[in-house]
Amino acid sequence: MKKDIDKITSGRTSLVHDEPLIFERSVPGRSGHSLPETFGDPKSALQHIPKSFLRKQPPSLPEVDEPTVVRHFTRLSSWNHGVDSGMYPLGSCTMKYNPRINESLARLPGFSNLHPYLPIELCQGALQLMWELADYLAEISGFTQVTLQPAAGAHGELTGIKMIRAYHKAKGNPRRRVLVPDTAHGTNPASSKLSGYDVVEIKSGPDGILMPAAVAQVMDEDVAAIMITNPNTLGLFESAISEIADIVHSAGGLVYCDGANLNSIMGITRPGDMGIDVLQFNLHKTFSTPHGGGGPGSGPVGVSAELAPYLPTPVIEKKAERFSLLGPINTAATLDLNTELFDVFNLTSQKLIGKPKRGDSVAEHTARLIAEGKYVSRTSELIWRLRAVDRADLHVVDLDRHTIIAATMRLFPEGSLK
Ligand SMILES: Cc1ncc(COP(=O)(O)O)c(C=O)c1O
Repeated sequence: MKKDIDKITSGRTSLVHDEPLIFERSVPGRSGHSLPETFGDPKSALQHIPKSFLRKQPPSLPEVDEPTVVRHFTRLSSWNHGVDSGMYPLGSCTMKYNPRINESLARLPGFSNLHPYLPIELCQGALQLMWELADYLAEISGFTQVTLQPAAGAHGELTGIKMIRAYHKAKGNPRRRVLVPDTAHGTNPASSKLSGYDVVEIKSGPDGILMPAAVAQVMDEDVAAIMITNPNTLGLFESAISEIADIVHSAGGLVYCDGANLNSIMGITRPGDMGIDVLQFNLHKTFSTPHGGGGPGSGPVGVSAELAPYLPTPVIEKKAERFSLLGPINTAATLDLNTELFDVFNLTSQKLIGKPKRGDSVAEHTARLIAEGKYVSRTSELIWRLRAVDRADLHVVDLDRHTIIAATMRLFPEGSLK
């Protein structure tokens, strides 16, 4: 085995993906540390430790020299994906640019060394940052309030649907069904089911767009909400949202929008103005929070005034330039360090591209987004290609996500589409 290990790694300076365990490099008696002389013989120190605390057997640790340890972990570290080796690859329909400045700012000691149990008076800066980010998001999206708690898109969806359930329950009936078009992201029916709802699938029209008549046909007072992904998973903008929202609202239902793909409409139109009641932002796609391998991301949720009382608490309140946390701990996720550092990434990104202004021309906004991530021009190219296929092909594409991913990978060689 030792021979094989050496064959694989000795003298190699390039990327090696066959790194053995450090235990497999262990050689009895080999050591990688030297204690200062004042410590004397480490074994004699054992006399000063009460017997009840001593192990019966020495711990099973690898016996390796210092260069072996350093090289082993350096090789492993080269497997990490980071902004220096490529762009963060997650993002459906979107590529994003991850400027290093976001990482540098998130590493500022005032953010990165915050202790989770600091009293409120000593973390005013962090609360201000979170409050400002939520405020920006509310303005961009046209919602009354935003919670930053959920740590991914699907987590935001679950939070949103649970708020919808709480809203209906408070009115006396949580209702039983959620409508989900066939162009929705897979996490939409999953979030509905997990929140105790039966899912009713609605077929999209021949052009891949949801038709109001199809919604009207299944809408009744037992439907709690419709969950629409916009732009949908075919990369198409749902053009009848307002009409659909009227149909759903007239039977007392609510409209959930999966806003994972918000960057393609951000600054051009606002979901809150289309009659949407609740939406999750996937900021690991829209801005620059890293996310991947199942790790945390950033999935804030924006809500209309009716749903604001059902937001997870505590919420951050600003009064006379002071920030405080309101409400008991009834969280969707913790307001923890991790999430807070991600807020630094997201707010920095937002400051870099500037606040999208209402009334910006599409061209102005597109230019800004292209400068930030290049994804709008590329998304347009994908939409153009999808529009170019006929209905039968569209159906095939819809069924086979891998086909879409493979085609997109060819279009965007330096990024990927989840
Ligand atoms: C449209 C859409 N909705 C929801 C999600 C789920 O987001 P997350 O992976 O952050 O849980 C994704 C992720 O790819 C998505 O593309």
